[in-house]
Amino acid sequence: MLFYFTGTGNSLYVAKHINEEPISIPQIMKREKLKFKDDSIGIVSPVYGHEVPPMVKDFLKKATFDTEYFYMVLTYGNRHGGAAELADNLCKECGITASYINIIVMVDNWLPSFDMNEQILLDKKVDEHIAEIVEDIKNKKHMISKVTDTDREAHQQFLGNMSKMPADAWQHLLKVGDKCIGCGICTKVCPSGSIKVENGKAVHIPGNCQTCLACAHACPQKAIGLTIPEKNPDARYRNEYIELKEIIEANNQNV
Ligand SMILES: Cc1cc2nc3c(=O)[nH]c(=O)nc-3n(C[C@H](O)[C@H](O)[C@H](O)COP(=O)(O)O)c2cc1C
Repeated sequence: MLFYFTGTGNSLYVAKHINEEPISIPQIMKREKLKFKDDSIGIVSPVYGHEVPPMVKDFLKKATFDTEYFYMVLTYGNRHGGAAELADNLCKECGITASYINIIVMVDNWLPSFDMNEQILLDKKVDEHIAEIVEDIKNKKHMISKVTDTDREAHQQFLGNMSKMPADAWQHLLKVGDKCIGCGICTKVCPSGSIKVENGKAVHIPGNCQTCLACAHACPQKAIGLTIPEKNPDARYRNEYIELKEIIEANNQNV
């Protein structure tokens, strides 16, 4: 049994290599009962600020997993900041013993820092790394990916910067521009139901936004942007092997 969270398809791409029918966290979270039992149970998730997205944290806190082998695979783009250790600590807080936590570098979809047109040209050896991870999990390998003091320092520095910002700053990260035609795709790719179309135009509702950027990346008009500067407002991304309809199936809260 494998659960995943995705904004732009990287984590779903990895999940599909590990399990033919991975289960979407934004969909399963609608269930009242979150008790799961299997030989092995895993989670594939992107890394946001070196940690997993709020909804994945929530899932770990609320669910119970009856398994001998619990594992996590964390996709990131540039700097993991000790993500494996932070995820391991989170598991411990939730009473989960993780047997295996690995990280995998993929396209970085963080628009303030990266130009998607440049990111897609980099060879991050994704398929080689996935093959290694799939093999590890098949063999029920025990390992938590190594973390250095430099990684930990990077995370502390990040936390220091975050503490200078208003607590709800990220809830106001997204803005809808004039190019919006009210097609509603953004409402369907949002994992937290944080976008509605009102009077023919998308409206972003702060509060439960996961900042996954699925809305911005999937908007066919490139009408959704950020309230902070972007590296290239014209460049958007979806994992090349993942279809838009798979992101919608994973995240749509309007069903
Ligand atoms: C809000 C946000 C924060 C991110 N933070 C980090 C980070 O701290 N380090 C990093 O290397 N990549 C970071 N990324 C990049 C993603 O982890 C990476 O692109 C991931 O593979 C996206 O997965 P997805 O396509 O399944 O959504 C961030 C992306 C977003 C949207």
